[in-house]
Amino acid sequence: MCGIIGYVGPRAAKDVVVEGLRRMEYRGYDSSGIAVVDEGSLHVRKKAGKISNLDAELALAPLPTTHIGIGHTRWATHGGPTDSNAHPHVSSNGRVALVHNGIIENFASLRAEAEAQGAVFASETDTESAAQLLGLELANGVDLFDAIRSVARRLEGAFTLVAIAADQPDRVVAARRNSPLVVGVGDGEMFLASDVAAFIEFTSSAVELGQDQAVEITRDGYRVTDFDGLPAEVKPYEVTWDLSAAEKQGYDWFMVKEIHEQPQAVADTLLGRHTVDGQLTLDEVRISPETLRRIDKIIIVACGTAFYSGLVAKYAIEHWTRIPCEVEIASEFRYRDPIIDPMTLVVTISQSGETADTLMAIRHAREQGAKIIAICNTNGATIPRESDAVIYTHAGPEIGVASTKGYTTQIVACYLLGLYLAQVRGMKFGDEIAEVMEELASMPAKMQTMLDNQQQVKDLARDLIDAQSVLFLGRHVGYPVALEGALKLKEIAYLHAEGFAAGELKHGPIALVEEGVPVFVVVPPRGRDQLHDKVISNIQEVRARGARTIVLVEEGDDEVLPYSDVTIRHPKCSTLLQPLLAVVPLQIFAAEVATLKGYDVDQPRNLAKSVTVE
Ligand code: AGP
Repeated sequence: MCGIIGYVGPRAAKDVVVEGLRRMEYRGYDSSGIAVVDEGSLHVRKKAGKISNLDAELALAPLPTTHIGIGHTRWATHGGPTDSNAHPHVSSNGRVALVHNGIIENFASLRAEAEAQGAVFASETDTESAAQLLGLELANGVDLFDAIRSVARRLEGAFTLVAIAADQPDRVVAARRNSPLVVGVGDGEMFLASDVAAFIEFTSSAVELGQDQAVEITRDGYRVTDFDGLPAEVKPYEVTWDLSAAEKQGYDWFMVKEIHEQPQAVADTLLGRHTVDGQLTLDEVRISPETLRRIDKIIIVACGTAFYSGLVAKYAIEHWTRIPCEVEIASEFRYRDPIIDPMTLVVTISQSGETADTLMAIRHAREQGAKIIAICNTNGATIPRESDAVIYTHAGPEIGVASTKGYTTQIVACYLLGLYLAQVRGMKFGDEIAEVMEELASMPAKMQTMLDNQQQVKDLARDLIDAQSVLFLGRHVGYPVALEGALKLKEIAYLHAEGFAAGELKHGPIALVEEGVPVFVVVPPRGRDQLHDKVISNIQEVRARGARTIVLVEEGDDEVLPYSDVTIRHPKCSTLLQPLLAVVPLQIFAAEVATLKGYDVDQPRNLAKSVTVE
């Protein structure tokens, strides 16, 4: 997610803005920029890369010292991390500079409209469409605050917009939908920001803007309305966090913050993928439908958690497309002498897009003639650059080493790929795809339910703090969830944990079960009864040997109760989508155990966020 700051007041705007951007570096970004107003003109400096690049630019070409400005750190979504794609974006008529956080779904049609009115675009971003439209409104004599509301009413998707106008050196305007915006209320100065970290050193008085609200700030105060200009109620509050807490928005750890960001991350990953005429569209799938129709094998290649999301994908892709789908650990794949030809589609999954094992694996696959699709969370990273096509997960930067929102958004991207392949190959009709997309759209709210009911899991973590080993069982898509739950516990709580296919119990692992051993079991929803009943039997088997059973099961399914010591419920969902819900308690459990043990949840020992060596 991008970092935004706006300022008006007695201080030097350029200093306040750049320092505010630095305070938001933790959010992750790949370019930054600043705009100020001086003597009827907009002055902009922006650079790809770290803020140090912007500093160098400012040293070469200093900005005038003024008292109004906006700034931005960009996490690239539409368009790679380049100088021209960096924000702020200035309308070609020079009237307005704008920064944006979020995804504007209908940017293409708005761009065409602006170009038809003479706007000349300088970037490939969705944001510039809003900047150009705003400049056209001002050129038609519309007041700046009215103009930003007018533009906001026309945007679809998620956005926080903040803008300044060349001829208005005393006010900053903004509007938000499905993306955060907070006002910092100072004494004779005002701030706008995506989070309080940007201005907390200047004031702890803040006002959070609500959905579909717009705001105008001047030195003397702020005015909040809805998108139609009617006054809106807002609640001022005092920020009690210090800067470090502000970066985590009040959570103890980035990982915990990112667990809680999953509903929004999944919603953002789904944004704009399903057109009104029921067609699936995927970012940059530059592989022709004809080629995709010839694919006769899919190999998913990834590491760690990304590999486990690939295991979930296998069940969905094979069920929807009837294409054989293998899932390989990248470091094994490239030494296995795999059977690959031009009709093989290799799907690589990587949050960072820089994992060396995965990168080497796809280079090997390319040499063998395979087509490569990357599922990645980092725009412009090496792996998507070296792939034929990419599906970006819009999870925003994932700071915690242990992947959480990366995992769930990878699963969603894999679902989208499976449905897209089924659509292209005629294996699913539009109504069938719409049915799955409709259920996917309901998942963020269901994931939020898991987050709202987390106290039970936290209490369980306290109960099990002295466990020496924890087992995780699942069948079908529950099996990769079991593997992921075990990995989280290993990674951050340094606790021995193993995930097993429940059907494997009798083939060895059940020997590990003795009195009191905690065993998590992911029970499939009732839709697939033969799976469901077999897992019930597995629970009975481990319970009979003294296991403490912690059962993750759908609401209303009471058949497990006689064998469940702790029952964790999730909202109803279809079998294939269950991982999005079942994994959330396992993430919370691992983070809570690690926290109670006093470990660094964000930076666990021996691990790096991106493993760029083999
Ligand atoms: C997961 O919590 C770990 N951080 C690790 O397994 C990670 O998923 C793996 O290294 C792959 O990273 P990538 O998604 O950036 O390629």
